[in-house]
Amino acid sequence: MRNILVTGGAGFIGSNFVRHLLTRAPDLSIVNLDALTYAGSRENLRDLPVEGRHTFVEGNICDRQLVDTLLRRHHIDTIVHFAAESHVDRSILGPEPFIQTNVVGTFTLLEAARQYWLPGQEPAVPAHRFHHVSTDEVYGSLAPDDPPFSESTPYAPNSPYAASKAASDHLVRAYGHTYGMRVSISNSSNNYGPFQFPEKLIPLIILNALEAKELPVYGDGRQVRDWLYVEDHCEAIELILKSGKAGETYNIGGGNQPANLTIVETVCDLLDELKPAAASYHRLVQFVADRPGHDRRYAMDITRISGELGWKPRHTMQEGLRLTVEWFLSHPEWSAAIQKQIGYRNWMDRNYENRERPA
Ligand code: NAD
Ligand code: TYD
Repeated sequence: MRNILVTGGAGFIGSNFVRHLLTRAPDLSIVNLDALTYAGSRENLRDLPVEGRHTFVEGNICDRQLVDTLLRRHHIDTIVHFAAESHVDRSILGPEPFIQTNVVGTFTLLEAARQYWLPGQEPAVPAHRFHHVSTDEVYGSLAPDDPPFSESTPYAPNSPYAASKAASDHLVRAYGHTYGMRVSISNSSNNYGPFQFPEKLIPLIILNALEAKELPVYGDGRQVRDWLYVEDHCEAIELILKSGKAGETYNIGGGNQPANLTIVETVCDLLDELKPAAASYHRLVQFVADRPGHDRRYAMDITRISGELGWKPRHTMQEGLRLTVEWFLSHPEWSAAIQKQIGYRNWMDRNYENRERPA
């Protein structure tokens, strides 16, 4: 792994990963291809640890000519593919871009990589790797007593987002099986941490609370996710790139499974401690109409990655949430820049304005 193409590296997890790699791996260079959709921002790439080994390219993963050029010009041997439309609620209101980026975009990258790395019988770039970053949502929803998702749990995606990620996972796997491309896939649970776009639960709650706006809890707030601090996710991906088997899938989870309402209340507790307002933030909690088709519970079995690669998450939810709240409190300029964007303001109106509130 010397010359890495990171896709979606101006988004939440991608930008954390770029930072992580630049700090941890001194001898590699990164080309970061990102279309700067509403979710991507140059604000996420300010003050990188080693600017000289990072090249940012604004462009679309569906642009085959551009991807071909980047692979050849930068002698890319490793692709770490984050770029995606990533928000379930947006996929419900408008699924089309999810098919375009998540399915067609992944296919475009795979085809370009195949023709560059595997043009004939012998691989032109023998030590290549295509790593695909995916989600636990491909496995569907768990009942309260079901065992957690393992790598052999059948796929049962419920939202257009999850279905588009499932389709891309299958394409990646097929390129490994059919063409002998050295691929790997990681399916991770919900991430949170610095630079997360404030349409997702945790940053949305933090920023709404700071503006004394309501804290919207979908349905009864008892849905469960398996929360993972983003830095732990970056470490897992780095380990898979270094020591994971080609052709393998790894589940990554944080082992933290509080209900959504508990998370919202914990964020309120942290804000009451770290930035007390005239009245407690808890008063802002507001139940709102549920998301259609809302998955009830996700949980991840991380036996494979912990057994084979020795990975486990370093952060408890309490630690990760505290770090996250502290980061948002100490980066008001980041939040202000993101909240100014039309893509943010339109979304907040569209998703929340007319949402029913129980009496
Ligand atoms: P994000 O929405 O914050 O960032 C996505 C990035 O991809 C943005 O910078 C955006 O500009 C870029 N992008 C979108 N379409 C593009 C295109 N056509 N061409 C080039 N760039 C494009 O997403 P995230 O939360 O950082 O998620 C990154 C990856 O991790 C996604 O593949 C997502 O499915 C997966 N994932 C996310 C989570 C999570 O909790 N956030 C959990 C598991 C897996
Ligand atoms: P989200 O952060 O959108 O991630 P995902 O849908 O990928 O799990 O949502 C996390 C959980 O929080 C999910 O159960 C939906 C819920 N949620 C709310 O209750 N209110 C909100 O305003 C949002 C955005 C999410």
